[in-house]
Amino acid sequence: MIKIENLYKSFNDLEVLKGLTLNVEVGETVTVIGRSGCGKSVLLKHIIGLLTPDMGDIWVDGKNVKMLSKSELYKLRLNIGVVFQGSALLDFLSVWENVALGLTENQKITVDKAKEVARQKLSLVELEGVENKRISELSGGMKKRVAIARALAVDPLYILYDEPTTALDPITARTINELILSLKRKLKITGIVVTHDMESAFYVADRIAMLHDGKIVFDGTPTEVQTTDNKIVQNFVKGGGQY
Ligand SMILES: Nc1ncnc2c1ncn2[C@@H]1O[C@H](COP(=O)(O)OP(=O)(O)OP(=O)(O)O)[C@@H](O)[C@H]1O
Ligand SMILES: [Mg+2]
Repeated sequence: MIKIENLYKSFNDLEVLKGLTLNVEVGETVTVIGRSGCGKSVLLKHIIGLLTPDMGDIWVDGKNVKMLSKSELYKLRLNIGVVFQGSALLDFLSVWENVALGLTENQKITVDKAKEVARQKLSLVELEGVENKRISELSGGMKKRVAIARALAVDPLYILYDEPTTALDPITARTINELILSLKRKLKITGIVVTHDMESAFYVADRIAMLHDGKIVFDGTPTEVQTTDNKIVQNFVKGGGQY
């Protein structure tokens, strides 16, 4: 499981996280909602050890991320797939090379094997026959699927999605939500989805946690979110993810 305990992080005088606590149990999908700039991406970066806490701890499978050596951190990252905000695909590589990046970079694997794994993962995200295309030839929704396939390439135990539906039209966003849910069911993967898209949050979540002013101010099931009298949550949900 992923356990975040009393996490603090500032950048110069900007206090972003101020005692954030959140647990994610094995097999569940938790969405973290909160307005733009509240620290959602910063939170995800701590889980994979790209940022170090000023204070507090993050435990993944019982390991304290900030205590890990470089090689231990590297091993941990092989268990965590990340779908970065904006997909972060490399335009100068083909679709399959993007999907296989984590494999070819980190492990000794033949080109044929890497391409085969890429093809499997692309079929898991319902993309077939595109492996030799360039990234620039794809639509926004297809790029998102390629980014998800890349996150899945190493067969991770955990997957972190950073704004998976932002910048997509509502219909395409819905197909990505359906994909997130079906992958969760098929692969029994543990997930965190950060988003300010409320429809997405409700659709994919077992639990929804609201990040506000550096802390998780509410944590409950989608039904509890709809019935809470917490004003911050109510305003956020009513505004469809805006204030
Ligand atoms: N490496 C960094 N150096 C300095 N400031 C940073 C850094 N990373 C993030 N910040 C600041 O921390 C705050 C939170 O950023 P973050 O990217 O986590 O927001 P977010 O909740 O993901 O927003 P969005 O929904 O727009 O993606 C912002 O004010 C941002 O400018
Ligand atoms: Mg972000």
